[in-house]
Amino acid sequence: MSNIVFENVSYTYTEQPNLSNIPFAVKNINLTIEKGSSVVILGHNGSGKSTLAKLINGILLPTSGKVTVNGMDTSNQENILEIRRTVGMVFQNPDNQIVATVVEEDVAFGPENLGVPPHEIRSRVEYALNAVGMSEFRLHAPHQLSGGQKQRIAIAGVIAMKPQYIILDESTAMLDPYGRREILDTAHSLNKNENITTVLITHYMEEAVYADRVIVMNDGSVVMDGSPAYVFSNVDKLKAIGLDVPQPTELLYLLSKDGHKLPAGIMTVKDAADALEKYLLKGE
Ligand SMILES: Nc1ncnc2c1ncn2[C@@H]1O[C@H](COP(=O)(O)OP(=O)(O)O)[C@@H](O)[C@H]1O
Ligand SMILES: [Mg+2]
Repeated sequence: MSNIVFENVSYTYTEQPNLSNIPFAVKNINLTIEKGSSVVILGHNGSGKSTLAKLINGILLPTSGKVTVNGMDTSNQENILEIRRTVGMVFQNPDNQIVATVVEEDVAFGPENLGVPPHEIRSRVEYALNAVGMSEFRLHAPHQLSGGQKQRIAIAGVIAMKPQYIILDESTAMLDPYGRREILDTAHSLNKNENITTVLITHYMEEAVYADRVIVMNDGSVVMDGSPAYVFSNVDKLKAIGLDVPQPTELLYLLSKDGHKLPAGIMTVKDAADALEKYLLKGE
């Protein structure tokens, strides 16, 4: 079994879950994330995204229901080490994830803790730095790097542990647009070239455009799940839960509302330009 499965999963941070009217951070989630896919989880602040991420690698255990990673139940303590080896996590703040004073030592830290033999650590560090495009920085001091570069080092540290899945929880949130682009490109390349399943958690709509699948969360529940084109063709529904859409989607949506016959679910500037050109040439 190569996937991550949520079966009727709910979670509350409340210590006394038997009381009535307690707040659930995630509610009755049923979800399968297939190995090899690239998934984006979208939702505004407090919608339950981080809780969902922490349930995947057993940082949190379900209050009810079951989470399995490649068939391993996260509630079984004996599985936790193997689950953490299988699912790597990258968080928001790159500065909190750097532990060493030299890049290559930082990347080696994870596999060292896993007891990987030294010669293999060396090849893993090389592989990981190469996979995030940071090989030439291997002897640099992490604190001298840009935010995007630091975050790529944090990702390399995770890759060096050879995970099958990588979860990036708002890992672009503290970066400037250039740094965000670096991380998105890195995640994309890990999925396509290294066959690592990527779960990108974000509240930036534009980051969802190139995913295989977009899962939208609101108030602890999954409210939409499908291709980016499907999700972004439901502009009204996204707006109702306080989410914006990419600008090209918004433009065509507003024109359609004014009676212009334009397709829904367009996400990129190029596709919007093509659709507008086609429409204008028809002279309607
Ligand atoms: N450590 C915590 N203790 C209590 N409540 C929490 C804690 N972390 C998150 N929550 C609550 O759980 C809900 C979901 O939060 P979270 O999973 O962090 O959402 P997101 O990552 O989408 O912002 C929110 O209502 C939040 O206030
Ligand atoms: Mg969060």
